[in-house]
Amino acid sequence: RLGLFTLLFGLALVAAEQGYEGYRIYEVTPTNAAQGKLLHGLSQQGYDFLSLSRLVGHPSRVIVSPAQLSSFEELLKEQLISNRLLNDNLGATIAMEFAQRQLQRRLSPITGKGRLSTDRYYTHEEITNYIDDLAARYPERVYVKTVGWSYEKRIIKTITITNGDRRPNKKVIFMDGTFHAREWISPAAVLYVIDQLAEQFDQNADLLKDYDWVILPVVNPDGYEHTQKGTLARIFRKTRQPYKYLGQTCYGADPNRNFDFHWNEEGASSTPCVDTYAGPKPFSEPETVVVRDLMHSLADRGVMYLTIHSFGNYLLYPWGWTNDLPETWMDLDEVAKAGGDAIEAATGTVYAVGSSTNVLYIAAGASDDYAFYAGFNISITMELSGGGITGFDPPASKIDEFVTETWIGIRAMAEKVIEKY
Ligand code: ARG
Ligand code: ZN
Repeated sequence: RLGLFTLLFGLALVAAEQGYEGYRIYEVTPTNAAQGKLLHGLSQQGYDFLSLSRLVGHPSRVIVSPAQLSSFEELLKEQLISNRLLNDNLGATIAMEFAQRQLQRRLSPITGKGRLSTDRYYTHEEITNYIDDLAARYPERVYVKTVGWSYEKRIIKTITITNGDRRPNKKVIFMDGTFHAREWISPAAVLYVIDQLAEQFDQNADLLKDYDWVILPVVNPDGYEHTQKGTLARIFRKTRQPYKYLGQTCYGADPNRNFDFHWNEEGASSTPCVDTYAGPKPFSEPETVVVRDLMHSLADRGVMYLTIHSFGNYLLYPWGWTNDLPETWMDLDEVAKAGGDAIEAATGTVYAVGSSTNVLYIAAGASDDYAFYAGFNISITMELSGGGITGFDPPASKIDEFVTETWIGIRAMAEKVIEKY
């Protein structure tokens, strides 16, 4: 599938890796279905969408390179697409956000032990140390297990939280975070869930009576660490295994396109330099192998799989590879709606609920479809609130608000699952 178009597209992406000087971000909002379709078409033609929705009235964000600018602006005018210039120099803004973060980090060094605060983001190493410390402090209720290593040989651990009754073969809620490197609010939200279940056990014992929670906070530690290395790397999405393409090296596959269920079908790319690269084969990435093996090892006890992404405020369920709905879609919808309703009632934030393909976009080879196929009754991708200019960079001052809001939704979904299964 190599053509001139792919070649030009590849080169444009390589250029993008060099920096974002003069790149702009537009918010575009389709006012009818045809416009929604048009935006989706742009995403297949080399436009880098930071968020993309096919819902009328739902804003999407797109990066526009200096080379794309004139044709993009023409298109907006011609098609009368409602739009807003959010940023006129992405390079400068990312640099500024980076500098602010460095400052914040110096102001609040972590103590290393005890409860984590929600006023900053943590590194993979800090998160790993934290869950180890939790297991040491609550040995009767909390276990940490090494489940694998990333491509760059970072350790990947799960934390299992129980109520300590040691009943074997309890039902399981399996949750993970940080598939995508740049989605920093994801590990923050997962850490907050861990905090609630482990440290605030007394208030949440109902969620652990018949269920164990198995939690993998950072699926993609290499990518996550990479996004902390500098301004250019901040919006990196994928894993870090290098792939050669047209004499260049591009890094990573999209872990959420790498699962062996309708692998590399719609909404995934065969081009290594593209953000939705499915990988050279299913499960080419050690990180997705880890998640797959966990899913299979938990499948007969696994009732709900929850994967935390950002951003856009969605609660998505299968399928993501087709616009058909699974037979049990009403169960999925009931659980997801319980989460969305609880959040809206408590904070006013509105989550869009539906199947991935129908509400967001078609994307095959993702973990939610795989978990559902592997036997989890309920499988949900949660796309949290966005912040910062790209949406992936909520200021540290927003973390607390976003993670507590997320917890309200997760708690409500867990309650619903416990009641139903
Ligand atoms: N933002 C996520 C991604 O692009 C959404 C995945 C939704 N699930 C799906 N099976 N398409 O990876
Ligand atoms: Zn994501």
